[in-house]
Amino acid sequence: MFLNKRKIVLVGTGMVGMSFAYSALNQAVCDELVLVDIDKKRAEGEAMDLNHGVAFASSSMRIYAGDYSDCSDADLVVICAGVSQKPGESRLELLQRNTAVFQSIISPITRSGFSGIFLVATNPVDIMTRVTYELSGFNASRVFGTGTTLDTARLRYLLGDYFSVDPRNMHAYVIGEHGDSEFVPWSQAMLATKSVIDICEQSDGKFCLEEMQKISIEVRDAAQKIIEAKKATYYGIGMSLVRIVRAVLSNENSVLTVSARLRGEYGQKDVYIGVPCIVNRNGVDRVLELTLTEEEQQKFTESCAVLEENYEGLRL
Ligand code: 2OP
Repeated sequence: MFLNKRKIVLVGTGMVGMSFAYSALNQAVCDELVLVDIDKKRAEGEAMDLNHGVAFASSSMRIYAGDYSDCSDADLVVICAGVSQKPGESRLELLQRNTAVFQSIISPITRSGFSGIFLVATNPVDIMTRVTYELSGFNASRVFGTGTTLDTARLRYLLGDYFSVDPRNMHAYVIGEHGDSEFVPWSQAMLATKSVIDICEQSDGKFCLEEMQKISIEVRDAAQKIIEAKKATYYGIGMSLVRIVRAVLSNENSVLTVSARLRGEYGQKDVYIGVPCIVNRNGVDRVLELTLTEEEQQKFTESCAVLEENYEGLRL
């Protein structure tokens, strides 16, 4: 009996999409990867280029340029299509243009008979994920976005460097909008099972809370810095996508800060926003509601308001 093939359709073969595809091949995260782009010739060239590396990859993967009809039996559709930020441009400024792109791609995907999971990376990712939810009519658990998964990885990298600890032992999250209103609920940040706040307070000045504030600002501004230096970011988000896809296809029940639809958690409804979620083959199985301080809850509510205001202004 053949195992079910793990099939992914990637929509958008720009730098983010192809960083995802290249990481997916090297990490053997699926068995079949279909590349769909409005520029079909580009998708064909990208497929050819990747296929020439299959012999060096840890396992074979069928990679080809296709179209929306290939979504019919896919497990996931990963959406990276749309415009990305220019230096100095905020993610929210991409909203109207990328909504127009989504209005042209979501219905052909659902018309194909697709019944899997939508994973969105296009910015502003929280609102673009909500647009996908509204346009597709899918159950909210099967429509989610990268959210603050990359921001959380950036945070753990910087905390690991600061405390000289493997980032995988830093249990801290960035939550909220994947954007300027994101923040770190430091009351919930742990090094192993010890509170980061306690570590700083008990370190006789070796570690300080002011440094934590600087780190959260460095995380929030990381994308702009990279964009100013090299015009765009793509490796980090590409690998974040692979991490999320692996949690789905391997039914991991992993906690990832993806962009999920709230249904009363944190006192919020309908908004899509980055929060710790249990991710498995059903998509977002459930939202993990952290215990926030009053100040942290206020920041979260403000971040939800930013997303709500920008979504309300949309003409879907
Ligand atoms: C990032 O944070 C631009 O959203 C992208 O790297």
